[in-house]
Amino acid sequence: MLTPAEHLVITLDGPAGAGKSTVAKSLAGRLGITYLDTGAMYRALTLKALRLKMDLSDEEALTALARNTKITFKETADGSLDITLDGEDVAKAIRTPEVTNNTFYVAKTAGVRTLMVAWQRALGENRSLVTDGRDQGTVVFKDARYKFYVDCDVEERVQRRYKELAAVGKPVDLDQLRADMKDRDQKDFTRSVGPLKKAKDAITVDSTGLTVEGTVDKIMKLIHL
Ligand code: DC
Repeated sequence: MLTPAEHLVITLDGPAGAGKSTVAKSLAGRLGITYLDTGAMYRALTLKALRLKMDLSDEEALTALARNTKITFKETADGSLDITLDGEDVAKAIRTPEVTNNTFYVAKTAGVRTLMVAWQRALGENRSLVTDGRDQGTVVFKDARYKFYVDCDVEERVQRRYKELAAVGKPVDLDQLRADMKDRDQKDFTRSVGPLKKAKDAITVDSTGLTVEGTVDKIMKLIHL
C-alpha cells in the first residue's frame, strides 16, 4: 500500500479534443507515474456492444454487458496502460468514428458508470496516476492531490482533429466534424450521471494556442511534489 505522501493522483478532465490524453500521457511520463485513459474504457464497452449488434438504447442490457466484461490494462514499458477487452488488445479498434460516435450511449448509462468508477478507483489504489476523462476530479478521485480542467477553444479542437485525421489519410468534412464536436460537447455536459464539469477545486488550464509540451510545461509549473 502506498502512503498518502507517495500516492499521487492527478486528474485531467475536459472536453473532447482538448488534447487531454496526449497531455496526460506526456505528464505521466515526465513524472514517472502511470497514465490511465478512462475514455478508452467507455470506448471498449461500446465496441463490444456494437460487435454484438445490441440495442444501444437499452440501458439494462448495457449494464448487464458491463458486468460480464473484463476490461483490464497491460502495463507497458513507457508506463502507460494498454487496454484489453476480455483479453483482446483493442487499442486501435476503439478509435474508429463508429465507436467515437456511439460511446455516449454507454457513457450516459448509470449502471455502467457505477462499474467504471469502481474499476478506475481500484486501478488507482496501489499506484500513482495521471488520469484523464470527464468525471475524474468530480466523482472518481474526489481527493486527488491535483485536479486540472483542460479547456480549449472549440474551433481549435475541430482544426486539431481535422489535421490529425488528414495526417493519417482520413480526410473528413470540416463542417461535419464541427457539428460532431459540438454534439459530443452537448452530450458530455448535459448527461445526468457523471457529466463533464469543472471540479470546484480544479485549476483550469487553457490549451488554446499551446502545443502538447507547452500545456504540460504549464501544468508542471503548478505541481509541487
Ligand atoms: O476521452 P474520449 O474521447 O476517449 O472519451 C470517449 C467517450 O467516453 C466520450 O463520449 C466521453 C466518455 N467518457 C466519459 O463519459 N467519462 C470518462 N471518464 C471518460 C470518457
